[in-house]
Amino acid sequence: MSSITIPARAEQHPHVRALSILRDLPAVADLIEMCFSSTMDNEGKRYVQDMRRAGKDNTFVQWASRAAETTSLPLSGYVWDENGKIIGNTSLVPFRHNKQRTYLIANVAVHPEHRRKGIARALTERALQQAREKKVNNIWLHVRDDNPGALDLYTKLGFVERARRTTWQATADSHAPSLNTDIAITNRYPRDWQTQSNWLSRLYPDSLAWHRNWSFNSLRPGLWNWLYLLFFDMNIRQWAAFRKDKLEATLSWIPSGRGESLFVAAGERSDPDAVTALLLQARRDLAHSQQNITLEFPSSEFDGAILAAGFKSLRTLIWMQATL
Ligand SMILES: CC(C)(COP(=O)(O)OP(=O)(O)OC[C@H]1O[C@@H](n2cnc3c(N)ncnc32)[C@H](O)[C@@H]1OP(=O)(O)O)[C@@H](O)C(=O)NCCC(=O)NCCS
Repeated sequence: MSSITIPARAEQHPHVRALSILRDLPAVADLIEMCFSSTMDNEGKRYVQDMRRAGKDNTFVQWASRAAETTSLPLSGYVWDENGKIIGNTSLVPFRHNKQRTYLIANVAVHPEHRRKGIARALTERALQQAREKKVNNIWLHVRDDNPGALDLYTKLGFVERARRTTWQATADSHAPSLNTDIAITNRYPRDWQTQSNWLSRLYPDSLAWHRNWSFNSLRPGLWNWLYLLFFDMNIRQWAAFRKDKLEATLSWIPSGRGESLFVAAGERSDPDAVTALLLQARRDLAHSQQNITLEFPSSEFDGAILAAGFKSLRTLIWMQATL
């Protein structure tokens, strides 16, 4: 486990101040939009719009209390303020999982005309200092694998790579082809749960689960779970892929407002064709309810199988962690 020493100067820098959510959101939204324009997807655009809207909203206090649970808008963080102009930002997004508190460092952005002067480093160090003051010592961040400058920044600050995960996307399409194979696709049967659960733990490890606001237990078979899903109006779909009688892989669809909606469970030696056949089945079956479907998955696992099902890679994120 890496451990970080935060330099004393992090607390003292004259241009670093705490984000004021009442005042700063429009300027921070502008900065984030400018700094991330080349990589921003629809979710990112919505996020910036939300931030702007919140900045103008007089009933902001209500929003802020709701947002803490439902969005990852920057409720706390630090800005670099030079003569009233915000030229740098770092957000701290709190998560709570299994009674453990975690901070995600996000939206690290510095105006292009002010880069390589140590601004991002100073802001991130200040954010780490804040985490320590709040006694939160589990800190994570996500950085794209094609952003070597930011990767260097975080490595120098003591962050260590823990996972590398790719987000894939495809259109749901009732005309998506079927795979010409002897793999049979069925519903997921209750007897498959134990294997599915073991495979899910391998591909979606517990150490990364702080990021999800639900647990894989919602995929468990049985009456109680069925009633629970009914109560929360969660319309989960599940499929299984068999060759003869051997389970090769399963696929679950969990509708959510967030990007990740499909969950593949497969063993290290499962047949890639099973993964392709399942994903194609989901593209066809979900055509009525979903325009785009996404899958967030460990990089390099079943890449070829996912591509063969017509999915495109949107981004690969490196998950980095530091312990204070
Ligand atoms: C990444 C970013 C925040 C860095 O801001 P910055 O204020 O220029 O960074 P700093 O000056 O504090 O750099 C600290 C260290 O990070 C590394 N670093 C930062 N930018 C770098 C770059 N473009 N190339 C290589 N290394 C870089 C260097 O090791 C640097 O130390 P050095 O200058 O002594 O060599 C800024 O380039 C940015 O806003 N980029 C667009 C948004 C983005 O990608 N954010 C990160 C999302 S995870």
